[in-house]
Amino acid sequence: MRLPEGFKELISEQFPSEISEQLMDSLMSKVSGRHAVFHKMTPDEWMSSVPHLLEFTKNPRVAGGVFFSEGYMFSHCPGYYSGLYYPQEASASEVVSLLPDNLNLVLDLCAAPGGKSIQLSQKLSFGGCLISNELLPKRAKILSQNLERAGVQHRVLMSNKAEELNSIFGPIFDAVLVDAPCSGEGMFRKDPDTVEEWSLKQVKICVDRQKEILSAAAGLVAAGGYLLYSTCTFNRDENEGQMEMFLASHPEFQMVSMIRLWPFEVPGEGHFACLLRRRDAFLSPAFEPQKNEKAKTCFDLPSVVQEFLLPTGSFEQGRDGFWFYPHAIKKHLPFSKAQRVCYEPGIRIFDSLSKPGFTHALSLILPPGVWPEALHISDDQLFSFLRGETLNTDLSPGVKQVLWENLPLGFGKQIPSRLQNMIPKGLRTFVPRTNLPARPNVQVLSQTQNP
Ligand SMILES: C[S@@+](CC[C@H](N)C(=O)[O-])C[C@H]1O[C@@H](n2cnc3c(N)ncnc32)[C@H](O)[C@@H]1O
Repeated sequence: MRLPEGFKELISEQFPSEISEQLMDSLMSKVSGRHAVFHKMTPDEWMSSVPHLLEFTKNPRVAGGVFFSEGYMFSHCPGYYSGLYYPQEASASEVVSLLPDNLNLVLDLCAAPGGKSIQLSQKLSFGGCLISNELLPKRAKILSQNLERAGVQHRVLMSNKAEELNSIFGPIFDAVLVDAPCSGEGMFRKDPDTVEEWSLKQVKICVDRQKEILSAAAGLVAAGGYLLYSTCTFNRDENEGQMEMFLASHPEFQMVSMIRLWPFEVPGEGHFACLLRRRDAFLSPAFEPQKNEKAKTCFDLPSVVQEFLLPTGSFEQGRDGFWFYPHAIKKHLPFSKAQRVCYEPGIRIFDSLSKPGFTHALSLILPPGVWPEALHISDDQLFSFLRGETLNTDLSPGVKQVLWENLPLGFGKQIPSRLQNMIPKGLRTFVPRTNLPARPNVQVLSQTQNP
Protein backbone atom coordinates (compact mmCIF):
# COMPACT_ATOMS: atom_id res chain seq x y z
CA MET A 1 0.00 0.00 0.00
CA ARG A 2 1.23 3.51 -0.85
CA LEU A 3 0.25 6.04 1.78
CA PRO A 4 -0.71 9.50 0.44
CA GLU A 5 2.28 11.91 0.66
CA GLY A 6 0.01 14.66 2.02
CA PHE A 7 -1.08 12.36 4.84
CA LYS A 8 2.50 11.52 5.81
CA GLU A 9 3.42 15.22 5.83
CA LEU A 10 0.36 16.19 7.87
CA ILE A 11 1.02 13.54 10.52
CA SER A 12 4.71 14.37 10.79
CA GLU A 13 3.86 18.08 11.19
CA GLN A 14 1.30 17.36 13.91
CA PHE A 15 3.01 14.68 16.02
CA PRO A 16 6.49 13.99 17.43
CA SER A 17 8.63 11.81 15.15
CA GLU A 18 8.43 8.72 17.39
CA ILE A 19 4.63 8.74 16.99
CA SER A 20 4.51 9.48 13.27
CA GLU A 21 7.21 6.90 12.46
CA GLN A 22 5.54 4.16 14.47
CA LEU A 23 2.19 5.02 12.90
CA MET A 24 3.58 4.83 9.34
CA ASP A 25 5.26 1.48 10.13
CA SER A 26 2.09 0.04 11.63
CA LEU A 27 0.00 1.18 8.65
CA MET A 28 2.30 -0.83 6.38
CA SER A 29 1.81 -3.98 8.48
CA LYS A 30 -1.01 -6.49 8.48
CA VAL A 31 -4.60 -5.56 9.30
CA SER A 32 -5.63 -6.42 12.88
CA GLY A 33 -7.50 -9.64 13.78
CA ARG A 34 -11.21 -10.24 13.32
CA HIS A 35 -12.94 -8.84 16.37
CA ALA A 36 -16.50 -9.03 17.69
CA VAL A 37 -18.35 -8.03 20.84
CA PHE A 38 -20.62 -10.51 22.60
CA HIS A 39 -23.98 -9.02 23.36
CA LYS A 40 -26.53 -11.57 24.56
CA MET A 41 -24.22 -13.36 26.98
CA THR A 42 -20.59 -13.15 27.97
CA PRO A 43 -17.93 -15.15 26.11
CA ASP A 44 -17.42 -17.18 29.33
CA GLU A 45 -21.12 -18.04 29.54
CA TRP A 46 -21.09 -19.11 25.91
CA MET A 47 -17.96 -21.23 26.36
CA SER A 48 -19.43 -22.97 29.38
CA SER A 49 -22.56 -23.97 27.43
CA VAL A 50 -21.45 -24.43 23.80
CA PRO A 51 -17.66 -24.62 23.76
CA HIS A 52 -17.33 -26.33 20.41
CA LEU A 53 -18.68 -23.78 17.98
CA LEU A 54 -16.40 -20.82 18.22
CA GLU A 55 -12.67 -20.45 18.46
CA PHE A 56 -11.69 -17.12 19.97
CA THR A 57 -9.42 -15.37 22.42
CA LYS A 58 -10.81 -12.72 24.71
CA ASN A 59 -9.86 -9.07 24.26
CA PRO A 60 -9.01 -7.94 27.81
CA ARG A 61 -9.61 -4.29 26.89
CA VAL A 62 -13.30 -4.67 25.94
CA ALA A 63 -16.11 -6.22 27.97
CA GLY A 64 -17.41 -9.04 25.78
CA GLY A 65 -14.71 -8.42 23.13
CA VAL A 66 -13.14 -11.41 21.38
CA PHE A 67 -10.75 -12.07 18.50
CA PHE A 68 -11.76 -14.92 16.22
CA SER A 69 -9.15 -17.17 14.75
CA GLU A 70 -7.76 -16.12 11.37
CA GLY A 71 -9.95 -16.85 8.35
CA TYR A 72 -13.02 -17.24 10.55
CA MET A 73 -16.24 -16.10 8.90
CA PHE A 74 -18.61 -14.41 11.34
CA SER A 75 -21.52 -16.08 9.60
CA HIS A 76 -20.18 -19.56 10.38
CA CYS A 77 -21.67 -19.53 13.85
CA PRO A 78 -25.46 -19.49 13.91
CA GLY A 79 -25.21 -17.36 17.05
CA TYR A 80 -24.51 -14.47 14.66
CA TYR A 81 -28.11 -14.67 13.40
CA SER A 82 -29.60 -14.19 16.81
CA GLY A 83 -27.28 -11.38 17.83
CA LEU A 84 -25.04 -13.40 20.15
CA TYR A 85 -22.20 -11.15 18.99
CA TYR A 86 -21.68 -8.27 16.60
CA PRO A 87 -18.53 -7.95 14.44
CA GLN A 88 -16.87 -4.71 15.47
CA GLU A 89 -13.31 -3.49 15.02
CA ALA A 90 -11.31 -3.79 18.27
CA SER A 91 -10.40 -0.15 18.94
CA ALA A 92 -13.87 1.09 17.89
CA SER A 93 -15.25 -1.25 20.55
CA GLU A 94 -13.49 0.69 23.33
CA VAL A 95 -15.29 4.01 22.84
CA VAL A 96 -18.68 3.42 24.50
CA SER A 97 -17.06 2.22 27.73
CA LEU A 98 -16.14 5.87 28.49
CA LEU A 99 -19.80 6.53 29.35
CA PRO A 100 -21.26 5.72 32.77
CA ASP A 101 -23.95 3.02 33.12
CA ASN A 102 -27.64 3.52 33.87
CA LEU A 103 -28.50 6.18 31.33
CA ASN A 104 -32.14 6.90 30.69
CA LEU A 105 -32.23 8.59 27.29
CA VAL A 106 -29.38 8.05 24.85
CA LEU A 107 -28.97 9.31 21.28
CA ASP A 108 -26.58 7.81 18.76
CA LEU A 109 -26.45 10.53 16.13
CA CYS A 110 -24.36 8.82 13.40
CA ALA A 111 -25.32 5.25 14.06
CA ALA A 112 -25.04 2.94 11.00
CA PRO A 113 -24.13 0.15 10.76
CA GLY A 114 -24.80 -0.02 14.49
CA GLY A 115 -21.94 -1.55 16.52
CA LYS A 116 -21.82 1.33 18.97
CA SER A 117 -25.64 1.51 19.17
CA ILE A 118 -25.72 -2.12 20.28
CA GLN A 119 -23.13 -1.33 22.96
CA LEU A 120 -25.08 1.80 23.99
CA SER A 121 -28.20 -0.31 24.50
CA GLN A 122 -26.32 -2.05 27.32
CA LYS A 123 -25.74 1.30 29.02
CA LEU A 124 -29.47 1.94 29.42
CA SER A 125 -31.17 1.86 32.79
CA PHE A 126 -34.32 -0.24 33.21
CA GLY A 127 -36.91 1.30 30.92
CA GLY A 128 -34.40 3.64 29.27
CA CYS A 129 -34.54 4.30 25.53
CA LEU A 130 -32.00 4.50 22.72
CA ILE A 131 -32.63 6.71 19.71
CA SER A 132 -30.42 5.53 16.85
CA ASN A 133 -30.12 7.98 14.00
CA GLU A 134 -28.54 7.48 10.58
CA LEU A 135 -28.76 10.20 7.97
CA LEU A 136 -28.59 7.98 4.88
CA PRO A 137 -31.79 5.90 4.42
CA LYS A 138 -29.92 2.98 2.80
CA ARG A 139 -27.62 2.75 5.80
CA ALA A 140 -30.58 3.25 8.17
CA LYS A 141 -32.01 0.01 6.76
CA ILE A 142 -28.80 -1.86 7.60
CA LEU A 143 -28.84 -0.28 11.05
CA SER A 144 -32.41 -1.48 11.54
CA GLN A 145 -31.49 -5.06 10.60
CA ASN A 146 -28.50 -5.08 12.94
CA LEU A 147 -30.45 -3.73 15.92
CA GLU A 148 -33.25 -6.18 15.19
CA ARG A 149 -30.84 -9.11 15.16
CA ALA A 150 -29.32 -7.92 18.42
CA GLY A 151 -32.81 -7.80 19.95
CA VAL A 152 -32.48 -4.24 21.27
CA GLN A 153 -35.85 -3.77 22.93
CA HIS A 154 -36.07 -0.08 23.79
CA ARG A 155 -35.11 1.49 20.50
CA VAL A 156 -36.42 4.10 18.09
CA LEU A 157 -34.81 4.57 14.67
CA MET A 158 -34.51 7.90 12.92
CA SER A 159 -32.99 9.09 9.68
CA ASN A 160 -32.64 12.84 10.10
CA LYS A 161 -30.11 15.64 9.99
CA ALA A 162 -28.71 16.55 13.40
CA GLU A 163 -30.34 20.00 13.24
CA GLU A 164 -33.74 18.42 12.61
CA LEU A 165 -33.34 16.26 15.71
CA ASN A 166 -32.46 19.39 17.59
CA SER A 167 -35.77 20.99 16.73
CA ILE A 168 -37.72 17.76 17.45
CA PHE A 169 -36.20 17.04 20.89
CA GLY A 170 -34.14 19.90 22.33
CA PRO A 171 -31.81 19.21 25.30
CA ILE A 172 -33.25 15.97 26.70
CA PHE A 173 -30.55 13.31 26.33
CA ASP A 174 -28.38 11.97 29.13
CA ALA A 175 -25.81 11.00 26.53
CA VAL A 176 -25.29 11.80 22.85
CA LEU A 177 -22.72 9.89 20.81
CA VAL A 178 -21.26 11.55 17.71
CA ASP A 179 -19.24 8.83 16.00
CA ALA A 180 -18.49 11.25 13.24
CA PRO A 181 -18.08 10.74 9.49
CA CYS A 182 -14.32 11.32 9.05
CA SER A 183 -11.44 11.00 6.60
CA GLY A 184 -11.03 7.36 7.72
CA GLU A 185 -7.23 7.18 8.10
CA GLY A 186 -7.82 4.29 10.51
CA MET A 187 -9.41 2.36 7.63
CA PHE A 188 -6.33 2.55 5.36
CA ARG A 189 -5.23 -1.02 6.10
CA LYS A 190 -8.72 -2.48 5.80
CA ASP A 191 -10.09 -0.60 2.83
CA PRO A 192 -7.76 0.58 0.02
CA ASP A 193 -10.49 2.93 -1.30
CA THR A 194 -10.03 5.16 1.74
CA VAL A 195 -6.37 5.64 0.74
CA GLU A 196 -7.43 6.71 -2.76
CA GLU A 197 -10.12 9.06 -1.43
CA TRP A 198 -7.88 10.79 1.12
CA SER A 199 -6.82 14.41 0.45
CA LEU A 200 -6.19 17.54 2.49
CA LYS A 201 -9.34 18.97 0.90
CA GLN A 202 -11.30 15.95 2.15
CA VAL A 203 -9.94 16.44 5.69
CA LYS A 204 -11.14 20.05 5.56
CA ILE A 205 -14.61 18.96 4.34
CA CYS A 206 -14.80 16.46 7.22
CA VAL A 207 -13.74 19.06 9.78
CA ASP A 208 -16.51 21.40 8.63
CA ARG A 209 -19.14 18.63 8.64
CA GLN A 210 -18.11 17.41 12.10
CA LYS A 211 -18.27 20.98 13.40
CA GLU A 212 -21.84 21.33 12.15
CA ILE A 213 -22.93 17.97 13.61
CA LEU A 214 -21.30 18.75 16.96
CA SER A 215 -22.93 22.13 17.18
CA ALA A 216 -26.39 20.55 16.65
CA ALA A 217 -25.48 17.72 19.06
CA ALA A 218 -24.68 20.26 21.79
CA GLY A 219 -28.32 21.39 21.78
CA LEU A 220 -29.51 17.83 22.38
CA VAL A 221 -27.57 17.16 25.60
CA ALA A 222 -29.47 17.63 28.87
CA ALA A 223 -27.86 19.70 31.64
CA GLY A 224 -25.38 17.37 33.32
CA GLY A 225 -25.48 15.02 30.32
CA TYR A 226 -22.61 13.65 28.25
CA LEU A 227 -21.42 14.27 24.71
CA LEU A 228 -19.12 11.54 23.43
CA TYR A 229 -17.21 12.31 20.23
CA SER A 230 -15.19 9.76 18.27
CA THR A 231 -13.53 9.19 14.91
CA CYS A 232 -11.48 6.48 13.23
CA THR A 233 -8.96 8.96 11.85
CA PHE A 234 -5.55 10.10 13.13
CA ASN A 235 -4.97 13.75 12.15
CA ARG A 236 -5.30 16.36 14.91
CA ASP A 237 -7.70 18.62 12.96
CA GLU A 238 -10.57 16.12 13.15
CA ASN A 239 -9.76 15.11 16.74
CA GLU A 240 -8.06 17.27 19.40
CA GLY A 241 -8.39 20.31 17.10
CA GLN A 242 -12.12 19.70 16.69
CA MET A 243 -12.57 19.38 20.47
CA GLU A 244 -10.60 22.58 21.13
CA MET A 245 -12.82 24.49 18.67
CA PHE A 246 -15.94 23.01 20.22
CA LEU A 247 -14.97 23.84 23.80
CA ALA A 248 -13.99 27.39 22.81
CA SER A 249 -17.47 28.02 21.41
CA HIS A 250 -19.39 25.93 24.01
CA PRO A 251 -18.29 27.01 27.47
CA GLU A 252 -21.22 25.08 28.97
CA PHE A 253 -19.22 21.87 28.28
CA GLN A 254 -16.09 20.59 29.96
CA MET A 255 -13.79 17.73 29.06
CA VAL A 256 -13.99 14.55 31.15
CA SER A 257 -11.54 12.27 29.33
CA MET A 258 -9.84 11.78 25.99
CA ILE A 259 -8.26 8.68 24.47
CA ARG A 260 -5.97 8.11 21.52
CA LEU A 261 -5.87 4.49 20.48
CA TRP A 262 -2.87 4.09 18.18
CA PRO A 263 -2.71 0.90 16.11
CA PHE A 264 0.91 0.39 17.26
CA GLU A 265 -0.15 0.44 20.93
CA VAL A 266 -3.49 -1.36 21.12
CA PRO A 267 -5.15 -4.15 19.16
CA GLY A 268 -7.17 -2.78 16.26
CA GLU A 269 -7.00 -0.12 13.59
CA GLY A 270 -6.94 2.95 15.82
CA HIS A 271 -9.53 5.37 17.16
CA PHE A 272 -9.95 8.72 18.89
CA ALA A 273 -12.58 9.46 21.53
CA CYS A 274 -13.34 12.39 23.80
CA LEU A 275 -15.99 12.54 26.52
CA LEU A 276 -17.46 15.95 27.36
CA ARG A 277 -20.05 16.85 29.97
CA ARG A 278 -22.54 19.67 30.17
CA ARG A 279 -21.88 21.54 33.37
CA ASP A 280 -24.16 21.77 36.39
CA ALA A 281 -27.49 20.24 37.12
CA PHE A 282 -28.41 16.61 37.07
CA LEU A 283 -29.32 13.83 34.71
CA SER A 284 -32.95 13.34 33.81
CA PRO A 285 -34.92 11.54 36.51
CA ALA A 286 -34.73 7.76 36.48
CA PHE A 287 -37.46 5.87 34.70
CA GLU A 288 -40.67 5.29 36.62
CA PRO A 289 -43.37 2.94 35.41
CA GLN A 290 -46.37 5.01 34.31
CA LYS A 291 -48.95 3.75 36.76
CA ASN A 292 -51.74 6.04 35.75
CA GLU A 293 -51.56 5.45 32.05
CA LYS A 294 -54.23 3.03 31.02
CA ALA A 295 -52.28 0.40 29.15
CA LYS A 296 -53.75 -0.43 25.77
CA THR A 297 -53.84 -4.15 25.40
CA CYS A 298 -52.95 -5.80 22.18
CA PHE A 299 -55.36 -8.32 20.79
CA ASP A 300 -53.95 -11.77 20.18
CA LEU A 301 -50.69 -11.10 21.99
CA PRO A 302 -50.32 -13.63 24.85
CA SER A 303 -51.00 -11.97 28.20
CA VAL A 304 -47.60 -13.00 29.63
CA VAL A 305 -45.91 -11.18 26.76
CA GLN A 306 -48.04 -8.10 27.40
CA GLU A 307 -47.07 -8.25 31.08
CA PHE A 308 -43.42 -8.40 30.07
CA LEU A 309 -43.59 -5.43 27.69
CA LEU A 310 -46.09 -3.03 29.25
CA PRO A 311 -44.08 -1.80 32.27
CA THR A 312 -41.61 0.00 29.99
CA GLY A 313 -43.64 0.83 26.90
CA SER A 314 -47.05 1.01 25.32
CA PHE A 315 -48.75 -0.64 22.37
CA GLU A 316 -49.59 1.87 19.69
CA GLN A 317 -51.64 1.44 16.58
CA GLY A 318 -49.66 2.86 13.71
CA ARG A 319 -49.52 3.17 9.96
CA ASP A 320 -48.57 -0.44 9.37
CA GLY A 321 -49.46 -2.45 12.41
CA PHE A 322 -49.01 -2.35 16.15
CA TRP A 323 -45.86 -0.95 17.71
CA PHE A 324 -44.15 -1.23 21.07
CA TYR A 325 -43.14 2.33 21.96
CA PRO A 326 -40.90 3.04 25.00
CA HIS A 327 -42.44 5.20 27.75
CA ALA A 328 -39.11 6.96 28.32
CA ILE A 329 -39.35 8.82 25.00
CA LYS A 330 -43.12 9.16 24.80
CA LYS A 331 -43.38 12.26 26.93
CA HIS A 332 -40.88 14.03 24.65
CA LEU A 333 -42.23 12.67 21.39
CA PRO A 334 -45.87 11.54 21.26
CA PHE A 335 -46.38 8.44 19.15
CA SER A 336 -48.59 10.30 16.64
CA LYS A 337 -45.62 12.55 15.84
CA ALA A 338 -43.07 9.72 16.11
CA GLN A 339 -44.91 7.95 13.30
CA ARG A 340 -44.29 10.91 11.05
CA VAL A 341 -40.71 11.73 11.95
CA CYS A 342 -39.15 8.34 12.77
CA TYR A 343 -37.78 5.72 10.43
CA GLU A 344 -39.13 3.10 12.87
CA PRO A 345 -41.12 4.36 15.90
CA GLY A 346 -40.16 1.51 18.23
CA ILE A 347 -40.60 -2.21 17.58
CA ARG A 348 -43.30 -3.40 15.24
CA ILE A 349 -45.01 -6.35 16.89
CA PHE A 350 -47.78 -7.03 14.34
CA ASP A 351 -47.15 -6.92 10.61
CA SER A 352 -50.41 -5.38 9.52
CA LEU A 353 -53.81 -4.66 10.96
CA SER A 354 -55.80 -6.38 8.26
CA LYS A 355 -54.01 -9.72 8.60
CA PRO A 356 -52.09 -9.61 11.87
CA GLY A 357 -48.96 -11.71 12.12
CA PHE A 358 -46.30 -11.56 14.84
CA THR A 359 -43.13 -9.95 13.55
CA HIS A 360 -39.61 -11.32 13.49
CA ALA A 361 -38.53 -8.27 15.57
CA LEU A 362 -40.90 -9.35 18.37
CA SER A 363 -39.47 -12.87 18.41
CA LEU A 364 -35.95 -11.48 18.86
CA ILE A 365 -36.62 -9.10 21.77
CA LEU A 366 -38.23 -11.72 24.01
CA PRO A 367 -35.83 -13.56 26.30
CA PRO A 368 -36.35 -17.32 26.63
CA GLY A 369 -39.31 -18.16 28.83
CA VAL A 370 -41.48 -15.14 28.02
CA TRP A 371 -43.25 -16.47 24.93
CA PRO A 372 -45.59 -19.20 26.25
CA GLU A 373 -44.43 -21.95 23.92
CA ALA A 374 -40.88 -22.50 22.79
CA LEU A 375 -39.32 -24.97 20.43
CA HIS A 376 -35.67 -25.72 21.20
CA ILE A 377 -34.24 -26.97 17.96
CA SER A 378 -31.29 -29.27 17.43
CA ASP A 379 -28.17 -28.43 15.48
CA ASP A 380 -29.50 -30.51 12.59
CA GLN A 381 -32.71 -28.45 12.31
CA LEU A 382 -30.95 -25.17 12.84
CA PHE A 383 -29.58 -24.69 9.34
CA SER A 384 -32.91 -25.59 7.73
CA PHE A 385 -34.76 -23.16 9.98
CA LEU A 386 -32.35 -20.30 9.26
CA ARG A 387 -32.74 -20.94 5.53
CA GLY A 388 -36.51 -20.50 5.92
CA GLU A 389 -37.51 -24.14 5.47
CA THR A 390 -40.44 -25.76 7.26
CA LEU A 391 -39.59 -28.29 9.98
CA ASN A 392 -41.25 -31.64 10.50
CA THR A 393 -42.78 -31.24 13.94
CA ASP A 394 -45.80 -32.52 15.73
CA LEU A 395 -46.67 -29.94 18.38
CA SER A 396 -49.87 -28.33 19.55
CA PRO A 397 -51.17 -25.81 17.00
CA GLY A 398 -50.00 -22.19 17.29
CA VAL A 399 -47.00 -19.91 17.13
CA LYS A 400 -43.76 -21.07 18.80
CA GLN A 401 -40.65 -19.08 19.56
CA VAL A 402 -37.80 -21.07 18.02
CA LEU A 403 -34.64 -21.15 20.11
CA TRP A 404 -31.24 -22.64 19.59
CA GLU A 405 -28.95 -22.81 22.64
CA ASN A 406 -31.44 -20.47 24.35
CA LEU A 407 -30.93 -17.83 21.66
CA PRO A 408 -34.13 -16.73 19.88
CA LEU A 409 -34.03 -17.24 16.11
CA GLY A 410 -37.58 -16.39 15.05
CA PHE A 411 -41.15 -17.62 15.15
CA GLY A 412 -42.64 -20.73 13.56
CA LYS A 413 -46.31 -21.68 13.27
CA GLN A 414 -47.37 -25.26 13.90
CA ILE A 415 -49.85 -26.55 11.36
CA PRO A 416 -50.67 -30.25 10.91
CA SER A 417 -47.36 -32.18 11.01
CA ARG A 418 -45.05 -29.24 10.26
CA LEU A 419 -43.80 -25.92 11.53
CA GLN A 420 -44.20 -23.08 9.05
CA ASN A 421 -41.20 -20.80 9.06
CA MET A 422 -42.02 -17.17 9.95
CA ILE A 423 -38.57 -15.69 9.27
CA PRO A 424 -39.22 -12.98 6.64
CA LYS A 425 -38.01 -13.88 3.15
CA GLY A 426 -35.34 -11.15 3.00
CA LEU A 427 -33.67 -12.47 6.17
CA ARG A 428 -33.51 -16.12 5.18
CA THR A 429 -29.93 -16.04 4.02
CA PHE A 430 -27.36 -18.37 5.44
CA VAL A 431 -24.30 -20.21 4.18
CA PRO A 432 -25.69 -23.56 3.04
CA ARG A 433 -24.41 -26.23 5.33
CA THR A 434 -22.76 -28.08 2.47
CA ASN A 435 -20.79 -24.96 1.56
CA LEU A 436 -19.25 -24.59 4.98
CA PRO A 437 -15.54 -25.27 4.88
CA ALA A 438 -14.44 -28.47 6.56
CA ARG A 439 -13.40 -26.90 9.84
CA PRO A 440 -13.26 -28.80 13.09
CA ASN A 441 -15.78 -26.56 14.81
CA VAL A 442 -18.30 -26.94 11.99
CA GLN A 443 -17.90 -30.71 11.85
CA VAL A 444 -18.55 -30.97 15.57
CA LEU A 445 -21.70 -28.91 15.00
CA SER A 446 -23.43 -31.80 13.26
CA GLN A 447 -22.61 -34.25 16.05
CA THR A 448 -24.04 -32.35 18.99
CA GLN A 449 -27.50 -33.07 20.28
CA ASN A 450 -29.53 -30.33 21.81
CA PRO A 451 -32.59 -30.78 23.96
C1 LIG B 1 -18.29 6.43 11.40
S1 LIG B 1 -19.83 6.04 10.76
C2 LIG B 1 -20.71 5.49 12.17
C3 LIG B 1 -20.40 4.10 12.63
C4 LIG B 1 -21.33 3.63 13.72
N1 LIG B 1 -21.31 4.53 14.85
C5 LIG B 1 -21.06 2.22 14.21
O1 LIG B 1 -20.55 2.04 15.31
O2 LIG B 1 -21.40 1.26 13.50
C6 LIG B 1 -20.53 7.62 10.50
C7 LIG B 1 -21.97 7.60 10.00
O3 LIG B 1 -22.44 8.96 9.96
C8 LIG B 1 -23.30 9.11 8.84
N2 LIG B 1 -23.36 10.54 8.48
C9 LIG B 1 -22.78 11.17 7.46
N3 LIG B 1 -23.06 12.48 7.47
C10 LIG B 1 -23.87 12.69 8.51
C11 LIG B 1 -24.52 13.82 9.05
N4 LIG B 1 -24.38 15.03 8.47
N5 LIG B 1 -25.28 13.66 10.14
C12 LIG B 1 -25.41 12.45 10.71
N6 LIG B 1 -24.81 11.34 10.23
C13 LIG B 1 -24.05 11.46 9.16
C14 LIG B 1 -22.66 8.25 7.78
O4 LIG B 1 -23.62 7.86 6.80
C15 LIG B 1 -22.14 7.07 8.59
O5 LIG B 1 -23.07 6.01 8.60
